[in-house]
Amino acid sequence: MLVSLRDICNIAEQNNMAVAAVNSASLEAVRAAVDVAEETGYPIIIQHAEVHESLVPINVVAPLVTSLAERSSAHICLNLDHCEHLSYARRALELGFTGVMFDGSALSYERNVDLSQYAAQMCADYGAGLECELGSMGSREGGDPDAGSTAEEAGAVYTDPDQAQDFIASTGLDILACSFGTVHGLYKGEPHLNFDVLREIRKRVNVPLVMHGGSGVSDEDYKKAIDAGIRKINYYTYGVKYAGDAVRAMIGEKTAENADAPVYWHDMTSTAYESLHNTFEHVVRVFANGAEPLA
Ligand code: 13P
Repeated sequence: MLVSLRDICNIAEQNNMAVAAVNSASLEAVRAAVDVAEETGYPIIIQHAEVHESLVPINVVAPLVTSLAERSSAHICLNLDHCEHLSYARRALELGFTGVMFDGSALSYERNVDLSQYAAQMCADYGAGLECELGSMGSREGGDPDAGSTAEEAGAVYTDPDQAQDFIASTGLDILACSFGTVHGLYKGEPHLNFDVLREIRKRVNVPLVMHGGSGVSDEDYKKAIDAGIRKINYYTYGVKYAGDAVRAMIGEKTAENADAPVYWHDMTSTAYESLHNTFEHVVRVFANGAEPLA
């Protein structure tokens, strides 16, 4: 079933777990996400980032995901990720998205509040949920995935817990993306998460909290973050990297003895599907944090 961003995060809140929010810029990723949700019984959020429009157009991904979700037994949300243009958000809502992340984190605080407020009204008109970001992760989703960075190098600014309280009251958002040490893309070394920042935010606000830059974080840190109030974990870069690694290994095996041996496109897509399925299943089970399956 297709559910709103607000409802799926509330399910996570009630079960002291986090929902995996997987960016799905290919048919294989969409299929893997839906299959894992159905097989495990845990909810999943399928995300389309505005910067991925060139990989998969929104008017292709929206009918695909909404039709799969509507006939599925699993709880599935279709969320627009890192939207910086309100016209694109409206397009997504018209196409049936059930959540929007409006990202005004690069703007001044006042401008972020104004546009997030507008986005909240727009989402409410369509019965969708709204996620906004306060503080900054520094690096942007879809930036150079090979760069590899720490939060300091990316120029991250941690979310201010007091400002978070004001931001939520002023905008009417449903869930809040926080900056507390994760970065988008590949990590250079071990990520250092600041759980104190997260705990302070949690003390002051009563909306579900979101971790961006979630891939590449250890299972132990996921659990700590969930215990500190994270209810949605955005996961992309490492999943597609593992899938790429698997495709490279498969090609290596097929061509080991004969460099001209054919490698068919469906060999690549099925290898990628299998890898993405394994990765999503692993994180969905870790993020469930011991909760019983729901569907
Ligand atoms: P990663 O690509 O670093 O996993 O981050 C995903 C994300 O935060 C999408 O918004």
